[in-house]
Amino acid sequence: MDIFEALLQSHQRQRATCARLLSGIGDHEERRQAFDELKAEMAAHETAEERTFYVPLIEHDDTVDPARHGISEHHEMDEMVEDLDKAEEGSSGWLETVGKLVHKVEHHLKEEEEKFFPEAKKVLSRERQQELGQLYVHEHERLYAKAEAEQ
Ligand SMILES: [Fe+2]
Ligand SMILES: [Fe+2]
Repeated sequence: MDIFEALLQSHQRQRATCARLLSGIGDHEERRQAFDELKAEMAAHETAEERTFYVPLIEHDDTVDPARHGISEHHEMDEMVEDLDKAEEGSSGWLETVGKLVHKVEHHLKEEEEKFFPEAKKVLSRERQQELGQLYVHEHERLYAKAEAEQ
């Protein structure tokens, strides 16, 4: 699996979990489970993606700006998750922030896939794409288990 296929798999998982979070928003148990799943997946994905995709791309002049932009969006999403952890689960403020987070996640994934991946494909060799894919999968698995254990 190359890095793009590996990232896409995580993106689809996030999209499915966001959809589950919105469809189960009226049910305490449903939304809590979906939110915990989204949090663990985002935490593992963001860090693994930064280490195995963004960092190698920062080394190339042509992809340094989109890489910085992506990392700053990760930070914005992390702050929303922190706000949600502090707010009362199910309150109007919590629900409003969930809506904003889902919107932001969808924007971020789309931008990565449509704008960033094509740029990255130009600077990473096929061999490097495969190698980074393996590193990503390994790192994601490790970080996901850690995030789940911490919940
Ligand atoms: Fe990302
Ligand atoms: Fe991503």
